[in-house]
Amino acid sequence: MRRTLLIVTCLAALSTLTATLAVAQTKPAAPAPVSEMTAGRRIFDAQCAWCHGNGGDGGTGPNLHGLLRHATSLNSIVDIIVNGIPGTDMPSFRLGLTERSTRQAATYVLSLSRAAARPGAGNAERGATLYQSSGCGSCHVVEGRGGILGPELTTIGSRRGSVYLRESIVKPAAAHPPGYLVVRAVPTSGAEVHGIRVNEDVFSILIRDAGGNVHVLQKSDLARVDRELEATLMPSYESRLAPAQLDDLVAYLAALRGAK
Ligand code: HEC
Ligand code: HEC
Repeated sequence: MRRTLLIVTCLAALSTLTATLAVAQTKPAAPAPVSEMTAGRRIFDAQCAWCHGNGGDGGTGPNLHGLLRHATSLNSIVDIIVNGIPGTDMPSFRLGLTERSTRQAATYVLSLSRAAARPGAGNAERGATLYQSSGCGSCHVVEGRGGILGPELTTIGSRRGSVYLRESIVKPAAAHPPGYLVVRAVPTSGAEVHGIRVNEDVFSILIRDAGGNVHVLQKSDLARVDRELEATLMPSYESRLAPAQLDDLVAYLAALRGAK
């Protein structure tokens, strides 16, 4: 009984081998680009989509459809995946991906970048007018003009996707770019200070309040510092803007891509 089973297994293995050989002979030596793309998409969905969105539609990382700012060729995309983009949230995958996987992911990203940028629903020109009339410029800098309480938006469209942009206008507390932690410092005597933590070391903390004033506080004078992880100094515009106006504003922000 056992022997029969063994023979059957051997025969099955042999036929699989023959079939594999036959396939190998008819296939070209180089792997077909389609399978590289499929492998690349799988890697992308697992490693990149949490920032770049499914299918590269954008999230906390930029939309990868259409012309890319940093990456213009397969090699430059490989370089970005290996080294990241220093000074930005784009991490290095040097230790996370093999050379082969890196190339496959890059092949997939290149195909996305060659696809036409999908136009959003809004109108960027109307969005620019709304940006002015809504007072966004009192807290944000675009091309050297505006207030500095919030992050600069000159290249926001190349760094963030539309879904994220919409979310940051409607629910600012849900999206926290690094460096905008809201803190409340309670001195042992005197008024509390509420604002964005600009800097902190062992001895002192710098806080910029909503009025834009920077307070330098010695920790020895403080009773405590509360870190308000869910707080933000940006007001929500959910009730102030109609959905179509939001589309326009997002289209304007998505078009802010800085100098090429
Ligand atoms: C932690 C979030 C995050 C992850 C994970 C991430 N990225 Fe990025 N990526 C970014 C951000 C943010 C930028 C924009 C950097 C900038 O220019 O400010 C970026 C930029 C890029 C660019 C350049 C786009 C351009 O306009 O030239 C490419 C290409 C890219 N990422 C590919 C990938 C790939 C492929 C992966 C997965 C292997 C990946 N990224 C994973 C956040 C991320
Ligand atoms: C009172 C100041 C203030 C006003 C007014 C304001 N913002 Fe903000 N904004 C901030 C702050 C502070 C942040 C940092 C994120 C956080 O704390 O949630 C931010 C974050 C953002 C971000 C995310 C940036 C990033 O790098 O992820 C976008 C986009 C944005 N604001 C757009 C707008 C638009 C559009 C308007 C006008 C409709 C506006 N803001 C009005 C203070 C403001």
